[in-house]
Amino acid sequence: MAVPLIYFLDDDENIIKLVKYGLRNEQFNVKYFSRPTTLIEAIKAEYPDVVISDVMMPDMDGIELIEKMRGLSRSMPVILVTARAAVDTAVRAMKAGAFEYLTKPINFDELKLAVGRAVEVGRLRSEVDEIKSGFKSRYSFDNLIGESEPINAMRDLIKRLSTVSEAVILLRGESGVGKNLVARVIHYTSPISDKRYLEINCASLPSNLLEAELFGYEKGAFTDAKNSKKGLLEVASGGTVLLDEITSMDLALQAKFLSFIENRRIRRVGGLEEIPVDLRVISATNSDLEADVASGKFRSDLFYRINVVSIVVPPLRERGRDVILIGRKFIDDFNTKFKKHVKGFTNSAERKLLSHSWSGNVRELRNVVERAMIFAENEYIDGDEISLSNIAQVPTMDDGLHLAKGLSLDQVEGEYLKKVLEWNNFNLEETARQLGVTRKTLWEKRKKYGLLN
Ligand SMILES: Nc1ncnc2c1ncn2[C@@H]1O[C@H](COP(=O)(O)OP(=O)(O)OP(=O)(O)O)[C@@H](O)[C@H]1O
Ligand SMILES: [Mg+2]
Repeated sequence: MAVPLIYFLDDDENIIKLVKYGLRNEQFNVKYFSRPTTLIEAIKAEYPDVVISDVMMPDMDGIELIEKMRGLSRSMPVILVTARAAVDTAVRAMKAGAFEYLTKPINFDELKLAVGRAVEVGRLRSEVDEIKSGFKSRYSFDNLIGESEPINAMRDLIKRLSTVSEAVILLRGESGVGKNLVARVIHYTSPISDKRYLEINCASLPSNLLEAELFGYEKGAFTDAKNSKKGLLEVASGGTVLLDEITSMDLALQAKFLSFIENRRIRRVGGLEEIPVDLRVISATNSDLEADVASGKFRSDLFYRINVVSIVVPPLRERGRDVILIGRKFIDDFNTKFKKHVKGFTNSAERKLLSHSWSGNVRELRNVVERAMIFAENEYIDGDEISLSNIAQVPTMDDGLHLAKGLSLDQVEGEYLKKVLEWNNFNLEETARQLGVTRKTLWEKRKKYGLLN
């Protein structure tokens, strides 16, 4: 994903200096403005992911700013920051459509989390608008590379399913096997391919926000709901929705979701009306659903409902020579990206790729090829140019984690997270377990340190 573009507006130069310092190591591209009018002009020319604004400014206050922006019909989330912890301003701001409301002095951790959430929501909103063009060709069957028996079988199954648009599909498989890719191929090869395709990662938002994003809300449903808003399920009606990491839904939301699948109707938060929604629903997970059901984390009735048609995307280690075929495709991709002219792998490189166990699956393969491509100087990548990590060994601080003096705690956390992900070949389940955090926290941290994919 591209580095998020953030606009920061405050009439106080000192605050701008402070924020520049506070956000200096973040994976955001921040542009600073001291006048609302210049910011508005800039928005007409480009599309920031998030706007952060002061509330009290001499020529226009933050709330007017939001209203002006709405006039430009731009739906980017706005985070308001103000010196006054006044409840009425907060209420007014949320009513005007602010995404979040923070008080000064600015707490950078809080700000970064708010920005992370806003980027995610903004991205979902714009995905709703974007769609279509180019996607069809990007997600044809040709993009699902592989000629091995399990992949051919999976392709046949997808072909048969794509004509049955009311089927509820569950995608299962280890992390990095290609579940998101399969979901897109299912949609873009189906008869409803010109309708909307939306992905929502259930681990990316706190439960109440996820509910509001999925189901929408009515005016007055909560203090900040000034206008009613359609949820993604409603917006994607007629098309396909992918609910990724479905096990991250909490039990209450699972119940609401089950009722949607069964009745094909939704009720917005705070609403009474039942709105019919016609959708192809795909859910995806890499966790052990049966175990989640047994431990009470996942509702068994929902499990049976979504498990009617399940597609297990096979791990890369079971796909034989597909490793080479997919690897060559990644060489092509990185040739374009790095402006190189690598032609393929040598025999020794192929042998090495074929004998590896790929616990991080296709994602790991992609990382391995990328690393090799960065250093590649010859026409063919040779075996000793391919470095594979070996997860059998227990990571110690000597496994390449070198800390320089003067790092901030945040930087250390980011570095360490990156290492643990690498040690585990980007297996998220295992990484979360080793770090002692939930999948949701892991997701937030990866986001914070730019380690999503
Ligand atoms: N058969 C394939 N051919 C080409 N590229 C693939 C294939 N399968 C996966 N990829 C690529 O591998 C990467 C990981 O795939 P994807 O994100 O779909 O995995 P996932 O199963 O959803 O993982 P997670 O459970 O961690 O979300 C993506 O860049 C995807 O495009
Ligand atoms: Mg995925």
